[in-house]
Amino acid sequence: SDPDLVQRARAARAALGSRVFVLGHHYQRDEVVDFADVTGDSFKLAREAAARPEAEFIIFCGVHFMAESADILTTDDQQVLLPDLAAGCSMADMAAIHQVEDAWDVLADAGIAEATVPVTYMNSSAAIKAFTGRHGGTVCTSSNAHVALKWAFDKVGGVDGTGKVLFMPDQHLGRNTAVRELGLSLEDCVVFDPRKPNGGLTADQLAAARMILWRGHCSVHGRFSVRNVLDIRAAVPDVNVLVHPECTNEVVEAADFVGSTEYIIKQLDAAEPGSAWALGTELNLVRRLALAHPDKRVHYLDSTVCFCSTMNRIDLPHLVWTMESLLAGRTVNRIVVDPDDAHWAKVALDQMLALPG
Ligand code: 13P
Ligand code: SF4
Repeated sequence: SDPDLVQRARAARAALGSRVFVLGHHYQRDEVVDFADVTGDSFKLAREAAARPEAEFIIFCGVHFMAESADILTTDDQQVLLPDLAAGCSMADMAAIHQVEDAWDVLADAGIAEATVPVTYMNSSAAIKAFTGRHGGTVCTSSNAHVALKWAFDKVGGVDGTGKVLFMPDQHLGRNTAVRELGLSLEDCVVFDPRKPNGGLTADQLAAARMILWRGHCSVHGRFSVRNVLDIRAAVPDVNVLVHPECTNEVVEAADFVGSTEYIIKQLDAAEPGSAWALGTELNLVRRLALAHPDKRVHYLDSTVCFCSTMNRIDLPHLVWTMESLLAGRTVNRIVVDPDDAHWAKVALDQMLALPG
């Protein structure tokens, strides 16, 4: 990075002191992570935001839905800032609240809404988290999706019963968790396509389904293929393939280990020196892990897959601008969730934080 900018960032950070707390997601650029007070996955960062009542400003180096969750979980006096408002998430944008409300009407018309619990991934708008709270559901992240799904099924007669879960917006996390951790079958899962009438599903398909998966995916993790896994196994015969559960079911089944961002970091920490790893996750994180583990052979599962482009929008110039604006008495890029949505989204987020484990 530009040394002048680094110097300005250091000076601004020091001048702001404990008035600000800087959160950095694991997929952020190195130049930004260098200034984060805490790094983490979306679950850890939500907890960290909630645990910092003394900070006047939370600067969230991550994407829009994460900053919304931080605003919901912090006090009314605290302000959450997103250094670049264009840092959205293409997966979260695949589920709009009006589409989710229409989908619920489809389930009601089919007579199955009563026996369905909504579960939304952290990667969704505050409005969808609020919808989930209003309908008795929970938020989940990739580190607790199995506990959240078990809890949701228990509300409607258990995993072995006939109740259903509407899982939004990442079909892959929903399917992988249901099939690998709850023992449901691929046939138990159907995909609801919001662009089609009735989600593209017949009444019989809806009646038979246990997991109704929203048609959404991550533009980074969704790109890894089984071909990538076969290629790396051929190139590095003793390689351990470790992927995020936002990858497709075929990729997850072909891999050796599957888990959230925090899980991937822990696996690498615990790995034997000399062992070989191919990581199917975001490139900023993989590059940092490779540097942090020079005694292990860290490969990227697909060298053509790149950074998360929206995570990468947060860069040092935006962070410096945000901090220097605060020093000049101007609050920029504040994220504020509508109070009614905030109330109900908090119900769903608190439900997640109360899940066992
Ligand atoms: P986690 O941080 O929960 O692992 O999610 C990955 C992700 O894609 C965040 O946007
Ligand atoms: Fe969204 Fe995927 Fe980027 Fe995470 S990595 S912010 S899920 S597009």
